[in-house]
Formats: sequence, C-alpha cells, structure tokens
Amino acid sequence: MQYKQLSNNIQIPYLGFGTWDVRGKEGLNVLLNAIHVGYRLIDTAHMYDNEEIVGKAIKESKVPREDFFLTTKLDRTFNSYEKAKQGIQNALTTLHVDYIDLLLLHEPYPQVEQMYQALIEAYEEGLIRAIGISNFNEERYLKFIKHCSILPMVNQVESHVYYPQLELKDTLEKHGAFMQSWGSFTEGQRDIFHEERLIEIGRKCQKSAGQVALRYLVQNGIGVIPKSSHIERMEENFNIFDFELDKEDLSLIKQLDEKHSLFNWYSNKRMWY
Ligand SMILES: NC(=O)c1ccc[n+]([C@@H]2O[C@H](COP(=O)([O-])OP(=O)(O)OC[C@H]3O[C@@H](n4cnc5c(N)ncnc54)[C@H](OP(=O)(O)O)[C@@H]3O)[C@@H](O)[C@H]2O)c1
Repeated sequence: MQYKQLSNNIQIPYLGFGTWDVRGKEGLNVLLNAIHVGYRLIDTAHMYDNEEIVGKAIKESKVPREDFFLTTKLDRTFNSYEKAKQGIQNALTTLHVDYIDLLLLHEPYPQVEQMYQALIEAYEEGLIRAIGISNFNEERYLKFIKHCSILPMVNQVESHVYYPQLELKDTLEKHGAFMQSWGSFTEGQRDIFHEERLIEIGRKCQKSAGQVALRYLVQNGIGVIPKSSHIERMEENFNIFDFELDKEDLSLIKQLDEKHSLFNWYSNKRMWY
C-alpha cells in the first residue's frame, strides 16, 4: 500500500474501499471480504445508511481499530453548527468507535462554514484525526478556505480518466489538500472496462483496464476508493501498486479527458455555497 502524508502529518492510504449502496446483511459480508482482501481505508457516509454495518465489520474482522482509516461524511441533515456537533456524536455512536480518521462535509451546502466549525472543534478535541470537504469545485474551494482557521486536509470529488480534474488537484495541492476520487470507474456512466486505450496499455503491463484507470489517478497523486461487491474485483482493484505507467501511457490516457463532469450536479447555483 502507498500512503500520502496529509497536511497535519497523518498518513492516508492511496487506496480505500467505497461503500455506497453496501447495506444490510449482504453488505456486512461485502465489507468483511474487503477487509480480508486487505482494504483498511473504508469510506462511508451518514447518507449511505451503512455506518452501523461498517462499525460491525471492523469489530467482527478482529483487525485492530487503529489499523483502519475510517472516513465518514456529514450531509445536509446536519446543516448548522449545533446539528453538525450532534452529527459527529451520532457518527461515533453508530460506527462504535471513539475517533473518526477523516470527517468530510459531503457537499457544499450553504451552511458549510458553520458546519465546518463543529468539525474543527471535534478535531481539536481529538475526536477526528483529519477534516475535509467533498464536491467543492475550484471556485467554491477558494471561497471556502478564506474562512477556515484550519484548512481542509482532503477534498473528495468526481475524478476518473474522462474527467480527472488535474487542475483542481494542483490547486488543492498548493493549499496542502489531498484530492480523493469518487466514481473512479464513472459509476457506469462510461464503459470504462472496455475502453480500448486502457485495455491496450493494460495488455502491456498485464493489467486490466480498471487497474490502469485506478493507477492513472494514483500516479497523478489522487486517492481512490473503488467499490465492488465481488471479491475477485476487490482483489483486482487492490493490486495496483506493483506496476507503473510510463510517460507515454500517462499522456495517452490524459487524452481521454473530456474536461467536463459526467454528472449533472450543482447546476442550480443558488442551492449551493
Ligand atoms: N463524496 C461523494 O459525493 C461521493 C459520491 C459517490 C461516491 N462516493 C464514494 O466513492 C465510492 C466509489 O464510487 P462508486 O462506488 O459510486 O462508483 P465506482 O467506484 O465508479 O464504480 C463502482 C461500480 O463499478 C463496479 N466495479 C468495481 N470494480 C470493478 C471491476 N474491477 N470490474 C468491473 N466492475 C467493477 C461495481 O460493481 P460491483 O459492485 O457489482 O462489482 C460498481 O457497480 C463510493 O462507494 C462511495 O464510497 C462519494
């Protein structure tokens, strides 16, 4: 596993396990399989309605709590300072842990500044090891950090070969923030596993198109959290640290960048920060 040192010196794995749509008894088995494969960063959120089984999987796995890097997120349910404070307590209780490794504000809600203040206080109390945001584009990010006494350590955003957001990554890096990708496989918006260019490069490295797609992000300094409910795919996605894309591969993949989001979020500006 490769790690990135965040701006407050804590280490975050470059690769984690996404848990969107991982729920119930079946979800618990999925999580136990992912832990068995070797995933230690687990990405959940209040919105995913699965924090309880994430906590359960951690306990049942018998892997020490401190070996995990647990990320969760507060959504608009907690859109005030007081509610965010309560949301943090709820997350700790539901996850059955006494600290969270990374807590993110899920989206740029109009009340993010007040919500973030609650994160800062919990961070200072030692309840959270790192704090951050999610789905902030460059404009919103630069506006937001003007008001932060502690800068966000992570911004989790849409990022894949068709829209890697390398410029945003550079801006974040300039301010000491790590970019993490969600939707590294485009959540089915593109048939990425049959992308000819990725297959060809993969053939040369004896890797799949999916592995090349993840490796491209990691080599660009972006963290990834692919989700799969199949153990063989979890293993495939996990094995991306034993090969390297060369300069030519990187520049060929860069040409896939369509420079626009594949998701139609945030079109109504008035609803957002
Ligand atoms: N911050 C945010 O707003 C936000 C938004 C979206 C997602 N997220 C986080 O990011 C994580 C990743 O995003 P995502 O799960 O939505 O989408 P994704 O990682 O782009 O794609 C997941 C899909 O790819 C399939 N898949 C995974 N590995 C595969 C492989 N090796 N070969 C073929 N198919 C494969 C999975 O199917 P199977 O399960 O059937 O294998 C699943 O349908 C989420 O789980 C969540 O934790 C965050």
